[in-house]
Amino acid sequence: MSKPFYITTAIDYVNGAPHLGHAYEKVIADVITRARRSLGQETFFLTGLDEHGQKVQQAAQTAGKTPQAYCDELAAIWLAFARKLELTNDDFVRTTSTRHKQVVQDILAKLHAAGQFYQAAHKGFYSTKEETFLTEKDRRPDGTFDPSYGEVVELVEENWYFKLGAHQQWLIDYLEANPGFIQPDYRRNEVLGFLKNHTLEDLCISRPAARLNWGIPLPFDANFVTYVWFDALVNYVSIPAAHGDAGVCAALNLPSSRLHPPSSPLSLWPADIHVIGKDILKFHAVYWPIMLKAMNLPLPKQILVHGWWQKDGAKISKSTGNIVDPIAVIDEWGLDAFRFYVLRELDIGPDGNWTDAGFQSRYGAELANGLGNLVNRSLSMLQRYRQGIVPARANELAPDANRVATEVRGLLEKNELQAALQSIWTLVTRANQYVDQTAPFKLAKDPTQAARLDEVLYNLSETCRVLAVLLWPFLPGTAGKIYAQLALPGTPDQIAAAGWGGLAAGHTIGQPAALFPRRDQPKP
Ligand code: MSP
Repeated sequence: MSKPFYITTAIDYVNGAPHLGHAYEKVIADVITRARRSLGQETFFLTGLDEHGQKVQQAAQTAGKTPQAYCDELAAIWLAFARKLELTNDDFVRTTSTRHKQVVQDILAKLHAAGQFYQAAHKGFYSTKEETFLTEKDRRPDGTFDPSYGEVVELVEENWYFKLGAHQQWLIDYLEANPGFIQPDYRRNEVLGFLKNHTLEDLCISRPAARLNWGIPLPFDANFVTYVWFDALVNYVSIPAAHGDAGVCAALNLPSSRLHPPSSPLSLWPADIHVIGKDILKFHAVYWPIMLKAMNLPLPKQILVHGWWQKDGAKISKSTGNIVDPIAVIDEWGLDAFRFYVLRELDIGPDGNWTDAGFQSRYGAELANGLGNLVNRSLSMLQRYRQGIVPARANELAPDANRVATEVRGLLEKNELQAALQSIWTLVTRANQYVDQTAPFKLAKDPTQAARLDEVLYNLSETCRVLAVLLWPFLPGTAGKIYAQLALPGTPDQIAAAGWGGLAAGHTIGQPAALFPRRDQPKP
């Protein structure tokens, strides 16, 4: 049984509507998944929702609903959002599902039996309003806590702790021996710096049920529920277990009587990539590896860390109204315009800044005038001058197209999505220049230039076909439209088809139509 390329995203809290940051991460994971498929690999793409914990409990309370009813309602919205982004996820995890909760409890029971947990009392400053312990970092310069925390009381609370300290050196050694484990490098250095300069505190894995009951009960102590991060991280293995992953089931001694493995079980773990945002790096690069080690499971191959989006240079925030609503953008400009902008504008790693002007400028220059214009005029001229019939093969643009295809293949293997788009656009630009240089509209007026016009039209229409193949992971809808306008069957989803010369002489193309309608009016 071959192991599919297994890729995950962070699972989103269901305490509100999806925003640009959530959409960005899911689009990155979707493009990497499609790229792997295009490169000929089997894939398994998991995304989903983090439904337990205080944030969700509070949001449900505010909405006047039970937490489960609230989660069910929001899950429908988030699922529709995944469809809106045309994510090709193979499963969608909800942490309130039985298949997930049981695995969390199995792991807790196993680690408890192995002596990995202990109970201790913690004394600290507790905000009753925020229902959270505050730390020294929350103090203002004068030593007091901000009035927004309401009454702050000193409290002693019993909890369960997971022993992390014993694994600190092991983790440092692992990160040093595996430079690709956390990418980009500066994120890896951040984690190494943290581990080398701090003594790891043990992780509190419980919350007293008396103050937070929206969580998975600890199987060995009914007075507590599981800390939401311990619960959420487990999704990366609970779903493989649900698909009958033999390695996970064996390591966790999952009772086969309870699991209902599908007739053809999948072998998924270890994940090839966890795609996450920079704010949750410590959970994935410190706690999660140590949890896996304690479970006797191998570590994921890579944690790929993206940056955060701002809008107009300021933090995205519902309360200040500084938001980008991805659904509104998609409804107005189309999904592929959204996918293109976020991937072309921002490399995976640094922070980015969304501006409506920047979005519109890329739409106009690169999509409408660049790609859209190239495809439209190439196919329109083939229709007009040759009744849509592809002339004999010609190879003038072949070196450019083959160079770009090779480059893109290499960049996709390294998940360098922005660079891959840049490379693809060198071909778009080259082909548009080729139209200007060869001036087929002039050639068409001169019967002695018929053979030259044939050559030019072949080069252009074949370049459009190659572009459809290279673009498919990024802009699947647009790639499909180009294929349809070329009247080619199927989907351009295999990069192996990018080799020059795929368009056969004598083939009749379909009707061209604008891929990215021009918008001269600025967005209201
Ligand atoms: N539930 C946890 C993750 C658990 S994973 C086992 C969580 N949820 S979240 O909804 O707050 O964030 C989900 C993802 O969205 C995170 O990777 C986070 O970095 C990302 N983003 C949230 N806001 C963002 C931006 N403004 N920009 C880019 N990504 C951001 O954390």
